[in-house]
Amino acid sequence: MSYPILAKEALIPDRTSKLVLAAPFIAQKARPGNFVMLRITETGERFPLTIADADPAKGTITIIYLVVGKSTALLETMKTGDEILDVCGPLGRNAPMRKIGPVLCVGGGTGIAAMHHLAKGHAAAGNPVTAVIGAANASHLLMEKELSAFCREVLVTTLDGSRGLKGIVTDALPEELRKKPAEVIAVGPVPMMEAVSEMTRPLGLKTIVSLNSIMLDGLGMCGACRVTVGGETRFACVHGPEFDGHEVDYQELRLRLSSFASQEKLSMDLFNSSRK
Ligand code: FES
Repeated sequence: MSYPILAKEALIPDRTSKLVLAAPFIAQKARPGNFVMLRITETGERFPLTIADADPAKGTITIIYLVVGKSTALLETMKTGDEILDVCGPLGRNAPMRKIGPVLCVGGGTGIAAMHHLAKGHAAAGNPVTAVIGAANASHLLMEKELSAFCREVLVTTLDGSRGLKGIVTDALPEELRKKPAEVIAVGPVPMMEAVSEMTRPLGLKTIVSLNSIMLDGLGMCGACRVTVGGETRFACVHGPEFDGHEVDYQELRLRLSSFASQEKLSMDLFNSSRK
């Protein structure tokens, strides 16, 4: 089985794109918090991408990716009508969705894609959702329109002040945290998730983060995605990717995410030179 790309939209040219894939079985089962593992060529690596949205009626899933290495660069060369060799999923634990009260969802960069699916799940469960999204500038903001469809409010921050509040997402939080949401969800770069968790810790607000560990199998067998949460080893692919933000060892996560930086750079350089 292969997975045709039904639509591709460049959200940030050459950097971030949105793909709608025909994947009827995955679309039926996908729940907020789930991800898929992609493989583009027979000899290519498997890499994880969050399911940003799923439409069981149409049999489609939506993924949003940032071009960070060879595999995502290869994905970026594909166009509508092309077929992805393997899409394995949905993987990961389903995030619990029940009526709990107001939820504050904070997203940065492509983390907004994962945050979108979680926020949509909470809205469907009857929880009023406020979203805070941030980007470098107005043209780099992701999924604002999609979030506006079900959030009671979408607050925007941009580094250059071209839209919304000038600054980063945490600058918009003090006022929102004073409203004492039942749960805070933060998805984005590790420093952002850590900063949000440190803001909510003294307030005693439950905080969920979604961890973007390096993954190989995505099935709990290889151990590549291990993280330390509450002093215990956890596998992000089967125990997460959502965890209690106050319990995550962010320093270890940062170190593990950078462990293959030189190999990733070499692979990207070889890929770029092969295209010249
Ligand atoms: Fe292998 Fe999680 S990716 S155990």
